[in-house]
Amino acid sequence: MSKIISGFSKLTKEEKIDWLAKTYFNNQPEIIQTLKQYWNVDNKLQQLHDDFIENTVSNFYMPYGIAPNFVINGHDYVIPMVVEESSVVAAASLVAKYWSTRGGFKAEVISTTKIGQVHFMYAGDKKDLETYFNQRKSELYTATASITKNMEKRGGGILDIQLVDKNDKLANYYQLHVTFETKDSMGANFINSCLEAMANQFRNDEIDIVMSILSNYVPECTVRAEVSCKVEDLGGKNPQKFAQKFEQAVKIAEIEPYRAVTHNKGIMNGIDAVVLATGNDFRAIEAGAHAYASKEGQYKSLTHCTVKDGVFKFWIEIPLALGTVGGLTSLHPMAKLSLDMMQKPSARDLMQIIATAGLAQNFAALRALTTKGIQHGHMKMHLQNILNQLGASIKEKEEITTYFENKTVSHSAVVDKFNEIRK
Ligand code: MEV
Repeated sequence: MSKIISGFSKLTKEEKIDWLAKTYFNNQPEIIQTLKQYWNVDNKLQQLHDDFIENTVSNFYMPYGIAPNFVINGHDYVIPMVVEESSVVAAASLVAKYWSTRGGFKAEVISTTKIGQVHFMYAGDKKDLETYFNQRKSELYTATASITKNMEKRGGGILDIQLVDKNDKLANYYQLHVTFETKDSMGANFINSCLEAMANQFRNDEIDIVMSILSNYVPECTVRAEVSCKVEDLGGKNPQKFAQKFEQAVKIAEIEPYRAVTHNKGIMNGIDAVVLATGNDFRAIEAGAHAYASKEGQYKSLTHCTVKDGVFKFWIEIPLALGTVGGLTSLHPMAKLSLDMMQKPSARDLMQIIATAGLAQNFAALRALTTKGIQHGHMKMHLQNILNQLGASIKEKEEITTYFENKTVSHSAVVDKFNEIRK
């Protein structure tokens, strides 16, 4: 029997759940129970979440953790993180504390402009198109006046519009390449609205508009975060050796794409967690970051390290198109709380905080990888997940956690210990 349904979005939430249970779960009552178990008891709050997307049937919990002790440009921060991976918040907290006694993190915004493009086809004479563009340019600005008015009051708006010839790559293909400043908003809606208004103004019988859309590649919206200290202040038994191996690990990620992808994935563990906690668009951030990592034609590390004249220096440079106003940032109560927790940052401040979270996460990963190995810490954090899977009681959890304090955690070792206790 076909499971295709028409008019699904028009059903009530209850009806949608009933249809789901009936069609895909043999009407098992547990399915309905599980979905409803995650509804918020506060109807108004649930309605808010229902309205974020279409066809909401429940909420999906992710842990919301906080990493204290971050010192960024001399200010203290506690950073909120939404992430499911056990070790991420622990690693961020450890590294924050570590660098808090070594001068903290220094961060600076390099640039904040964003790009949008009207893609179109034109088969006529290029000179005529150029003339038409130059004649129309001021009208393109005028066409967006009602949209840009408020943004201009905040110091943002359209910075530049260029006609770009892309015929060498695709026959008859041109663009209006538009540069924007969107201040504290991520600006996706603003940019797309401006582009569509421009496209409407620009089209004629010969100009065939294909699409108008912002670019998530934002190499001119970048931030740098850094830590540095004397090699001898790095601590541990042999700080020289540590610094050397750490630098080698970064250099490997600079030249070896297989390693670079995992290296950058670790950076994004920190970045995405704060991006999510602040209601920002993590897909946009991911896409932009990985494109930036490939900007020289080969995928490379987003962080860099030098050990020179007895000084260890480690930094990240990354594009981050973020908002602290608009979108979910004030609508989602937890996103708002996250921003309040970080003292209501501007988008520029948030760029610095989030780049720092990425750098800290990468420092933690490389420190573990080049010393004890990653599994030691990972499995320690994962222990509670294994115990939950096994259905261990609180007492059993305590006993097993104590037992593994000085031992290597593996799934089978935990199962063995669990069975031994149960016997
Ligand atoms: C795991 O989520 C992230 C790491 O693999 C990152 C890295 O290898 O640098 C530990």
